Amino acid sequence: MNFLEQKIAAEGKVLSESVLKVDSFLNHQVDPQLMQKIGEEFAKLFSDAGITKIVTLESSGIAPAVMTGLRLNVPVVFARKRKSLTLVDGLYSAEVHSFTKRETNEISVSKDYLTSDDVVLILDDFLANGQAVLGLMDIVNQAGAKLVGVGIVIEKGFQQGGQLLREKGIRVESLAIIDSLTNGEVTFKREATHV
Ligand code: G4P
Repeated sequence: MNFLEQKIAAEGKVLSESVLKVDSFLNHQVDPQLMQKIGEEFAKLFSDAGITKIVTLESSGIAPAVMTGLRLNVPVVFARKRKSLTLVDGLYSAEVHSFTKRETNEISVSKDYLTSDDVVLILDDFLANGQAVLGLMDIVNQAGAKLVGVGIVIEKGFQQGGQLLREKGIRVESLAIIDSLTNGEVTFKREATHV
């Protein structure tokens, strides 16, 4: 098991056959040392890609994205899910439907922070059905920026997002891929990036 798989095995809680709770280090409390290692790993994987910007989605994507941005020495833009008081004009927007939460959010990024000169790495905490990543890709496309890949902290390999994106020819690097959550146990797919 890599460092992330070990952390998930030690602290992850299986809530159902499809939902893993990792509130102790990723979705509520954040483990800075772990985030730093995650950032180093993504930076290593994408070091030759000429990335100029990392794009993520609030809120849990921000910690791993910032650590990666620190390593790659590039800014991090997080798409907002709620309308901002100060962010009203000049936005790229996309609709993201969450099957897990049964809600649709409009996500947006200011045109000031994403341009056709950008080479983008999309980062997110979880990959389930891929809707969040597709929404972020829509925004990257609207800006005319170039997407070089997607970095995911935890991919749920038994849901369709990973396959959907890889079939589109997108480079997806997941640091842990969960094969199943049956019988209250987490099992990992061996194809996760080994670190
Ligand atoms: P999708 O984008 O891949 O289609 O995912 P989906 O709609 O199913 O997930 C919506 C939200 O639920 C996302 O967080 C996603 O990260 C999270 N999520 C999905 N599956 C799991 C899981 O098994 N465990 C945990 N802990 N989270 C999961 P979000 O609403 O953007 O939340 P946050 O970033 O504000 O924390």
